[in-house]
Amino acid sequence: SGNDPRLPLKLLIAAPRGFCAGVDRAIEIVERALQKYGAPVYVRHEIVHNRYVVDSLKAKGAIFVEELDEVPDDAPVVFSAHGVPKSVPAEAERRKLLYVDATCPLVSKVHRQAERQIEKGQHILFIGHEGHPEVIGTMGQVPDGRITLVESVEDVATLPFTQDDDLSFLTQTTLSVDDTREIVEALQAKYPKIVAPKAEDICYATSNRQAAVKDIASGCDLVLVIGAPNSSNSLRLVEVAQRMGTDARLIQRASEIEPEWLEGVGTLGLTAGASAPEKLVREVVDRLSDWRVVTEEIITTTEENMIFKLPRQLMD
Ligand code: F3S
Repeated sequence: SGNDPRLPLKLLIAAPRGFCAGVDRAIEIVERALQKYGAPVYVRHEIVHNRYVVDSLKAKGAIFVEELDEVPDDAPVVFSAHGVPKSVPAEAERRKLLYVDATCPLVSKVHRQAERQIEKGQHILFIGHEGHPEVIGTMGQVPDGRITLVESVEDVATLPFTQDDDLSFLTQTTLSVDDTREIVEALQAKYPKIVAPKAEDICYATSNRQAAVKDIASGCDLVLVIGAPNSSNSLRLVEVAQRMGTDARLIQRASEIEPEWLEGVGTLGLTAGASAPEKLVREVVDRLSDWRVVTEEIITTTEENMIFKLPRQLMD
């Protein structure tokens, strides 16, 4: 069997992996809001896409809802790291709700660029995945009809604009670096005058995690990515490993790993999406150690030291 307990299993653990600065900050915002205002603190949408994180905050008194109308008038509410359309803080203000915005500063930066592009009279082509809360939030920064979602190279072919139209583009922060490059190239080929964002919108955490998994994938028989099925950046990590020709699976928790997966596997790669806590990585290593003699090697492609400031209202 593949799981003779004396058989070795070599783990290549990608670094960086797991929490990014935006996720760290969003979780700390909810924790500080609980300390400052007392429970319950409402959170609009999963603060970050990870059930373990959400459940831990629920246990401390956070209540998760999908829409603002589920929040009572006298309770504080936190907006998730993914960002919200302008209509959400507007409605919170109309209702005089106490709200704290945990939108990642790198998402807010894209929001401000979107506003500026609209002020300049440009129509925005926004590269992203339909339905993701970040996409809903960014598209909701500008008036209806001024921004068009582009999901693929095929979408570019069907865009109705002419080369004379004033166009610019922006992207979701958690996209595949490689796919996005192809879409941008297709846009620039069709619309040579299209205005690019000032700096890359895909965030440092997304691109670093993709580079790190790319670095280990070819040397692995299987790659496990810890993350949620609705976590964009985690799904992209699975794709990156698969495109290197390596089997890869997304798992939320160690308990999902089937011992059969290890048959014929001598080297296993491990990484975690930006919303997955390191605790879940250790849980996976422990479970694998039940079946095999595990050795761990951490393969670091970049050092990260990003920290984002908390909102002023929670600094005291
Ligand atoms: Fe922000 Fe990137 Fe994390 S946009 S929340 S730093 S994945």
